[in-house]
Amino acid sequence: MSRTRTLFVTTALPYANGPFHIGHIMEYIQADIWVRFQRMRGNTVHFVCADDAHGAAIMIAAEAAKKSPQDFVAEIAAGRAPYFRGFHIAFDNWHSTDSPENVALSQDIYMKLKAAGFIATKTIEQFYDPVKGMFLPDRYIKGACPKCGAKDQYGDSCEACGAVYAPTDLKNPYSTLTGATPVLRTSEHFFFRLSDARCIKFLQEWTRGRNGQGQPRLQPEVLNKAREWLAEDEGAGGKGLADWDISRDAPYLGIPIPGTTDKYFYVWLDAPVGYLASLKNYFDSGKAKTASGAPQTFAEFLADPNTEQIHFIGKDIIYFHTLFWPAMLHFAGYKVPDNINVHGFINVSGEKMSKSRGTGISPLKYLELGMNPEWLRYYIAAKLNANVEDIDLNPDDFIARVNSDLIGKYVNIASRCASFITKRYDGKLGDHDPAAAKLEHDSAFAHDEIGRLYEEREFGKAIRRIMELADAANQYVDACKPWELAKDPAGETRLHCVCTSALTLFRDLTIYLAPILPHVAERVENFLNVSLAHWNDVSINLAAGHQIANYQHLMTRIETRQVDALLGIESEPSAGPKAAVATPSPASAAKAAAIPAPNASSPSPAAQVKSDASVTDRYISIDDFARIDLRVAKIVNAEQVDGAAKLVKLTLDVGEIENGQPRLRTVFAGIKAHYKPEDLIGRMTPMVANLAPRKTKFGLSEGMVLAASFPDDQGGVFLLQPDSGAQPGMKVK
Ligand code: MSP
Ligand code: ZN
Repeated sequence: MSRTRTLFVTTALPYANGPFHIGHIMEYIQADIWVRFQRMRGNTVHFVCADDAHGAAIMIAAEAAKKSPQDFVAEIAAGRAPYFRGFHIAFDNWHSTDSPENVALSQDIYMKLKAAGFIATKTIEQFYDPVKGMFLPDRYIKGACPKCGAKDQYGDSCEACGAVYAPTDLKNPYSTLTGATPVLRTSEHFFFRLSDARCIKFLQEWTRGRNGQGQPRLQPEVLNKAREWLAEDEGAGGKGLADWDISRDAPYLGIPIPGTTDKYFYVWLDAPVGYLASLKNYFDSGKAKTASGAPQTFAEFLADPNTEQIHFIGKDIIYFHTLFWPAMLHFAGYKVPDNINVHGFINVSGEKMSKSRGTGISPLKYLELGMNPEWLRYYIAAKLNANVEDIDLNPDDFIARVNSDLIGKYVNIASRCASFITKRYDGKLGDHDPAAAKLEHDSAFAHDEIGRLYEEREFGKAIRRIMELADAANQYVDACKPWELAKDPAGETRLHCVCTSALTLFRDLTIYLAPILPHVAERVENFLNVSLAHWNDVSINLAAGHQIANYQHLMTRIETRQVDALLGIESEPSAGPKAAVATPSPASAAKAAAIPAPNASSPSPAAQVKSDASVTDRYISIDDFARIDLRVAKIVNAEQVDGAAKLVKLTLDVGEIENGQPRLRTVFAGIKAHYKPEDLIGRMTPMVANLAPRKTKFGLSEGMVLAASFPDDQGGVFLLQPDSGAQPGMKVK
């Protein structure tokens, strides 16, 4: 056996501007499975992460929410724990880039890079919003495409014709923050000199290097990408590395650059330093347990040649982690990463999801519905491999896979054999069945192969192998028919042996699944009264006379209705006093979908659809529909209304500009029972923008937002939400 390893493992730091989506959870589950496996092997692992609390996007989001950036970020950070508890994600420490450790480390790295001659300054010209008084990041500039003239295109490319250009090429550019026409201004920026020959040389070696285990640092496809960027391949058309702009001018939410008064590090400079900040915070807290038990400081830990530094990230941030990050660390005299493990994206039913808002599957809702987190851990693991491939969460496949593998194969073995042992043999195991010797041997023997697959992050292959073993165990139980043996007094001894061997196979499967199903493994540990905590525990002999506990059901099947509820599909009327109401037709559902402004006299024409009407009044003309001005609105504020039982006061940005300032609208919506105002802020929703304004006793209501519900709102009211990319003011048609 090789010596044990000491691992420092991280996942990418999520932006502290919203709750986790399923993509985040997938990354945490992947890393957590790997970490748990390493711990089962006896390796020491420090598994840390943090919130990424800086950058223009968070600054602007906090402003829109009328909160200080610190409060805004703190509120998001406070909401993280339920996800980790809920999905059994065992981070040792969670910190923030907005921390004293990160300020000190980022500034230290910068000063060392500067001393080594890696920082240059250059004066650059950039768009500046004169109303807001700030330089505009590219994504806050829009205008008409310089090629085809399409309006409202982003500063980098045209969605209409595909042209690629610089923000300064846009016709009639405007700031999406204020609507103002941006002006060009010069300013001095700091650059990290990636183009320095020392840097290129280092990165060419580092990217092709190997980790402490002699394995390549990077996956082949990631290495290819890095080589392309480094323009190693002659003729690949690469221009080599450009220097990296690491400064931003005030106002900016970030860490001040030493020696300046109005410049901050670009968020991507201090974000990865957050890995170290979290680790340092963990060591300084005294909670980090070292392999030997001897105390160790953060600095000693990083200086230890045995320490392996391993990052798990998604495919969209490879550039930062394979070029900037190792170069920054190396030239500042810090330890460099041993591995960057890159995963693809998770899609839901083949649909891409927005990076910031995720998909229709909310991880929190999953937990709130009481769905078993280990179902999702298992399904995601079954889909994962060591490549940078996207994976798909398909609801039907999810149900089928979990029910057939975990319930039908794995749990089934224990549930068919356990009660015989407890009822007939006082809970004591017997001798092993000689006829199962080969099976037991094969099962224990698969240990190395499955271990290798976990190590290589080939979780899907590991599961396939584990399920082969489960199939073999089930075939054995099927062939021995313990329930028949139980009826025959002559079968008594054999029944005891068969159940003992079957439970031994079940024990092995539990160890193999433990990194994925930690909670189940704990319960099986109690049930079988044997350690399952170590990968080598498969070699513990469950001898005759070994006492086990009563079997408690380990896992239930997934019901289709649970997944429907998760996806927001009402498969049947919900139970309760009003359950007698028949499932509404789509037409009546459409009618119920609108939340009128208070006192709105009549529903909009689109809602006047009758399900039982004749053809002529069943349809409206396209012109009827066109009369409704449906627009995408952003909820910039939401608050309780004093004295109103049902209403929430919404402040909406519908993309309207008046005198160079955004014109905001007020709408009172009857959704108080269904939404907390603070949860609505920042969301997009369609609204009827040309509904005649109505006076209410609380103020003027200037339109109506749209939501889905059944009659009488049974089952809840659900605000509609456009797909990612929709902008305030876009027409819904
Ligand atoms: N803040 C940066 C990372 C800084 S690391 C020093 C960031 N944050 S993020 O919240 O946008 O993304 C966090 C992680 O989630 C990234 O690794 C990203 O690739 C991953 N994912 C975001 N969407 C995803 C999917 N749809 N599927 C899987 N992972 C996804 O980037
Ligand atoms: Zn165009």
